[in-house]
Amino acid sequence: MKHLLKILDLEKEEILDLLNLADQLKYEQKNGIAHPHLAGKTLAMIFEKSSTRTRVSFEVGMFQLGGHPLFLSSNDLQIGRGEPTIDTARVLSRYCDGIMIRTFGQEEVEELAKYSQIPVINGLTDFAHPCQILADLLTIREYKGSFEGLKVCFIGDTNNMANSLIVGSLKLGMQFSLATPDKYQLHPEIAAFVADNPLFEQTSDVLAAASQADVVITDVWASMGDEGEAEQRKQDFAGFQINQAVMDVAKEDAIVLHCLPAHREEEITTEVFEKYADVIFDEAENRLHAQKAVLVKLMK
Ligand code: CP
Ligand code: NVA
Repeated sequence: MKHLLKILDLEKEEILDLLNLADQLKYEQKNGIAHPHLAGKTLAMIFEKSSTRTRVSFEVGMFQLGGHPLFLSSNDLQIGRGEPTIDTARVLSRYCDGIMIRTFGQEEVEELAKYSQIPVINGLTDFAHPCQILADLLTIREYKGSFEGLKVCFIGDTNNMANSLIVGSLKLGMQFSLATPDKYQLHPEIAAFVADNPLFEQTSDVLAAASQADVVITDVWASMGDEGEAEQRKQDFAGFQINQAVMDVAKEDAIVLHCLPAHREEEITTEVFEKYADVIFDEAENRLHAQKAVLVKLMK
């Protein structure tokens, strides 16, 4: 593994290795055992979109690993004034030991990786959110013990979260049910990945998708970059919500996940959000542990 650009690039064993390393690093951190695997190393973190969790967890993670994080907003970088990605990749490769980037197009991240001499980590694009999905898988395994025989239900937009979660869940052998309006079809690369996989189903029937699910998950109706469509999307996604009626048809011990930020009373009701807040904030915490595993794997 040279970079982390999308879950599609990872083998099942590579995903499990990262989760196991995350467990170990989490144990060390919780028990005050120093783990300075990246002493003397610097991570450049390029942000072209807003972030709370990704920025803070990468920054804190690098600190705990003995390294140094460098927050680079595209407003301040020459990238924001049109310097080509390829030159930014070549320059950062001379100073740093890894690059984390949050941006719009997946092509930009792929290009950065192509010209970079150092590992590149995708901190979210319009297409993928691999770091979040590793944290989600870690959380699912913590709560459910294993992935075997589980059904994951995602309700909402066919966005970066859905794309990455579908791939991660199917690679680990879980059943996946996607509830989305007919108008919102899968990205062609994801459609090709799920084609003929009997573990995958897509429907516009939310209750059918959630029926007997072990994990119920959603995300915002309008992602960063979709702001101009927010009003239309509110109409399109009305009803594509995690509420008590949905949880009533899921398994009794089902968990609810949300990558956050959450829009209460849109994709999830306040009632359900608060009922499952413990697991949702464990999931947020697991961003830290999962990403430290990625950093150690790629940069040590
Ligand atoms: N879940 C997530 O990526 O959160 P941020 O946008 O706050 O980084
Ligand atoms: N789908 C959301 C995820 C935010 C973490 C977005 O891209 O805005």
